[in-house]
Amino acid sequence: MTDTPLDHVSPATLGVHAGRPPHEPDQPLNTPLTLASTYVAGGDREYGRYGNPTWQAFEQALGALEGGRAIAFSSGLAAVATVLDLVGQGATVVAPRHSYNGTIMQLADLEARGRIRSRLVDVTDTAAYVAACEDAALVWLESPTNPMLEVADIETIATAAREAGAHVVVDNTFATPLLQKPLELGADIVVHSATKYLSGHSDILMGALVVEDPELFGVLKGRRDLVGAVPGTLEAFLALRGLRTLHLRVERAQANAAELAVRLGEHPAISEVRYPGFGAMVSVVLAQGAMAADLFTRKTKLWVHTTSLGGVESTFERRRRWKGEPATVPDALVRMSVGVEDVEDLWNDLATALDDLT
Ligand SMILES: Cc1ncc(COP(=O)(O)O)c(C=O)c1O
Repeated sequence: MTDTPLDHVSPATLGVHAGRPPHEPDQPLNTPLTLASTYVAGGDREYGRYGNPTWQAFEQALGALEGGRAIAFSSGLAAVATVLDLVGQGATVVAPRHSYNGTIMQLADLEARGRIRSRLVDVTDTAAYVAACEDAALVWLESPTNPMLEVADIETIATAAREAGAHVVVDNTFATPLLQKPLELGADIVVHSATKYLSGHSDILMGALVVEDPELFGVLKGRRDLVGAVPGTLEAFLALRGLRTLHLRVERAQANAAELAVRLGEHPAISEVRYPGFGAMVSVVLAQGAMAADLFTRKTKLWVHTTSLGGVESTFERRRRWKGEPATVPDALVRMSVGVEDVEDLWNDLATALDDLT
């Protein structure tokens, strides 16, 4: 991998340069797609489930951005499951009550099978969260949360949780390492759905974990090797290609989101705007209820009604259309993933659809 010194460069430069082949004659500039199920014996990789040069390039780039060592997975939920699998029999996991519903469903599944006890807490209530951590083995954070966009005081909670002897995990999917670096705030493990902003083009499923501690790295990589939750090579290639422009996409999408949040807040069809002040996700509540929210998602021409998020294209959906979504998420809440298009085009499309509702 790259021999260019990348110790003191900005995240934008890291994202472009980390994980490239060395600057040597005839080396490809870009990391190639290595399709291999097995390697000639005697090296570090040996078999395709233990490592792949294309995944490793992605891992190097993401690790550099987060300030740790990354491990790529087949999906965000495979990464989540790998962490939860490490929790001891009967131990307690504290998590935000509005975590991504797939995470909540994994916790509920483990609890139903008697594996763990889960405690879902309001992540904006730092004192309650800290109190809940006292006897926990694992403290899960997601910030901003999906889809309520609540922001956690990661540093305070992580400090308290670690003092209580718990491991701290932060799902950093919505913030990306450009806007939030959980390892610097005291987390032990960072989780990503690389399906979203990291890859950024709505064309792959992939996940990742990032850790600093070498022992924890070994344990988590060992679990991945054992259960085989590994990404496809093409996925890793595309995720790395996406990562190269992460800073440009996040900058543009965030500027669009901030502007749209203001305009949406002034529209009579919207009763509430949830925007944490950073990132490119905005959630709105439709004043006339769930039916109006469903209508809204069908009336636009540019905005696409779809689940998932974090792509270059603007997408949205009413989250409660999913059964697993917590009942405390408003029925009329539409989660909007703001893309990198022209903000006036995005607004005109939204305003036309919203005007039609009023
Ligand atoms: C915050 C968050 N974490 C994890 C996941 C799961 O990731 P994946 O869909 O890649 O399994 C998602 C998916 O939407 C998510 O939004």
